[in-house]
Amino acid sequence: MRFLFVGDVYGKTGRQMIQTYLPRLKSKYRPSLTIVNGENAAGGRGITEEIYKFLMTQGADVITMGNHTWDNKAIFEFIEDAKRMVRPANFPEETPGNGIVYVNFNGQEVAVINLQGRVFLPAIDCPFKKADALIEEARKRTPILFVDFHAEATSEKLAMGWYLDGRVSAVVGTHTHVPTADERVLPDGTAYVTDVGMTGPYNGIIGVNRDTIINRFITAMPTRFESEAGPGQLAAVIIDVNPETGKATKIQRKLINDDHPFDE
Ligand SMILES: [Fe+2]
Ligand SMILES: [Fe+2]
Repeated sequence: MRFLFVGDVYGKTGRQMIQTYLPRLKSKYRPSLTIVNGENAAGGRGITEEIYKFLMTQGADVITMGNHTWDNKAIFEFIEDAKRMVRPANFPEETPGNGIVYVNFNGQEVAVINLQGRVFLPAIDCPFKKADALIEEARKRTPILFVDFHAEATSEKLAMGWYLDGRVSAVVGTHTHVPTADERVLPDGTAYVTDVGMTGPYNGIIGVNRDTIINRFITAMPTRFESEAGPGQLAAVIIDVNPETGKATKIQRKLINDDHPFDE
């Protein structure tokens, strides 16, 4: 069983990269399931129903989210009906939506879980303890569990990877928008990468217009974020999992941008 996971889709440029490259990636690598992080898909802030549906028609099977989940208020109108969307599971109990979703591929059930870190992010429930509870529940149904850990600190993400090693098929990091080169299969069979990277404007600063961000650092004054114009990039990982055991056997990074052209 093969997963294709695409990192944080950012704004229109990110959506265009999905439209151009997701079908090509899928026809080249033939994933069983495609998971896309959509927390920045609407202009960098949240997601709308139209964009959720767009990502699904482009070939996503599940959409994961993150700290920007509520930024576009349109989400409140459809999240309860969005059966293929997961928002961080360790948001408070009353939060709308789901933190775990089950999908079927060829009769095989797969659990997709979204968690959010707490270092340099809002104080929410413990992602480690939430992971324990969800894994216990999910493993009664399937050995194949996929985790998108949306977090800022590399240490917190590594801690989660090692903590879950052998209990889930994959822990992929999102949120920093900068891919890390530490992809590996941990000793007990969990595929891991600290950050998959962003799918969006290649010449911005984590997706945002770079002059705006540079000015913010220089002046320490608040600024309105706009997406950077120009070419895009797509960042993804491909993970192979033994469907019997749920153990990962391989993880590969895929980065597509002007400096790393797509190799058909
Ligand atoms: Fe993001
Ligand atoms: Fe984020």
